[in-house]
Amino acid sequence: MKKKSKFKFNISFPGFKFQKSIGIDLGTANTLVYDKQKEKIVLNEPSVVAVDRETKKVLAVGKEAKDMLGKTPDHIMAVRPLREGVIADYDITEAMIKYFIKKVFGKFNMILPEVMICVPIEVTGVEKRAVLEAAISAGAKRAYLIEEARAAALGAGIDISAPEGNMIVDIGGGSTDIAVISLGGTIVSKSIRIAGNNFDEDIIKYIKRRHNLLIGEKTAEEIKIKIGTAIPLEEDETMIIKGRDLMTGLPKPLEISSSEVLDAIKDSLDAIVTSVKQVLEKTPPELSADIVDKGIVMAGGGSMIRNFPELLAKNTLLNVVLAENALESVVLGAGLALDKLDVLRKIEKAER
Ligand SMILES: Nc1ncnc2c1ncn2[C@@H]1O[C@H](COP(=O)(O)OP(=O)(O)OP(=O)(O)O)[C@@H](O)[C@H]1O
Ligand SMILES: [Mg+2]
Repeated sequence: MKKKSKFKFNISFPGFKFQKSIGIDLGTANTLVYDKQKEKIVLNEPSVVAVDRETKKVLAVGKEAKDMLGKTPDHIMAVRPLREGVIADYDITEAMIKYFIKKVFGKFNMILPEVMICVPIEVTGVEKRAVLEAAISAGAKRAYLIEEARAAALGAGIDISAPEGNMIVDIGGGSTDIAVISLGGTIVSKSIRIAGNNFDEDIIKYIKRRHNLLIGEKTAEEIKIKIGTAIPLEEDETMIIKGRDLMTGLPKPLEISSSEVLDAIKDSLDAIVTSVKQVLEKTPPELSADIVDKGIVMAGGGSMIRNFPELLAKNTLLNVVLAENALESVVLGAGLALDKLDVLRKIEKAER
C-alpha cells in the first residue's frame, strides 16, 4: 500500500484548502451548488441550456440561457434538460453539469473535488450512471448520488440516522418526492411527476378556458407566487395580469383572484395530498407512530404556495411544517451527506 503523506491534510495556506467538496442539487427548475469548505451556496442558476439546433453546440447555460427561453431565434433552442424530475436529454444534462462544476472550480484546478449530486428517487440506473460519469468527466475525483428526499431531510435538519421514522415531502418544480426515512435509509417512498410547474400549467389552462386569454409561463408563476393559495383565503386577493386575447389576437389586461387560482390548481394539490396519504398507509406502524409525534416536513419550492402545509395538515391530521430553507434544503443536505457516508445506506458512487 502506498504510504500516505502525513502532511496531506495538514498544510493549509490562507484562502487555500486542500480538500474540496461540493453538493449539487440538479433540479428541474434550478441547479444549486453548495461549497462545503466555504460553507455556502456558491451557485444558483436555472437548469436551462441554449443549444444550436443544427450543430447541437451548447451556446449558453443557466441564467443566460433562461433569458433566451421563449424568445430565441429559429436556430437556437433553449431547453430544460431535466424535465419532470428525470433526465430528458443526456448530452445536454452532461454539458450542464460540466459547465456548473467548472464554473465553481475554475478551469485550471489542481485539486479535484468530491461531488455529491441529488437525483429524484425514481431515476433509472442508466440515468444515474450518466450523471455520475458527467461529474467525473467534469473533473470530480469522486462522485456520489443521493436521492432528493433524503438530502432534503438532511438539509431540513432532520437526524436521518436515528432509528425513528421521519417523513419528508419535497415538492420541486417537476417532481414531488415523498419518503419515510429511518436509520439512514429510505423505508417507503413515492415520486410523482406533479409539482410546482404543474401549478403554472394549470393556471395557464384555466385562464385560457375561462377567460380566453393566453398567458406565458413566467406570468403564471408570478400569479402562483403572488396570490396562489392551497386553501380558500378569508379575503380574496386579486392581481392584474396581461395576456393575448384569443378572440381578437390583441394584448389584454385581466383581473384574477386567489379563489380562481385555487380552482385552477386544486386537482394538482389533491394529487400530491393523495400520494402523501398513500405513503402513510404503507408505512410500518412503529414508524407511523414516530410520524404522529414528529409530523411531516415539507421542502422544495413547490411547497411554498401559501397554506400548503395547512392543507396537508388538514388532510392527514398530522403536524406539518415547511422547512426554513425550503428552496435550499436539498443542496444543503447534499453537502451534509458527504460527512455521513458511513450512515447513509445505498449511495451510488463513481471514482476516477
Ligand atoms: N414562493 C413560492 N411560492 C410558490 N411556488 C414557488 C415559490 N418559490 C418557488 N416556487 C416554485 O417552486 C418550484 C421550484 O422549486 P425547486 O427549486 O425546489 O425545484 P427543483 O428542485 O428545481 O425541481 P425538482 O426537485 O422537481 O427537480 C417552481 O415551480 C417555482 O415556481
Ligand atoms: Mg428539487
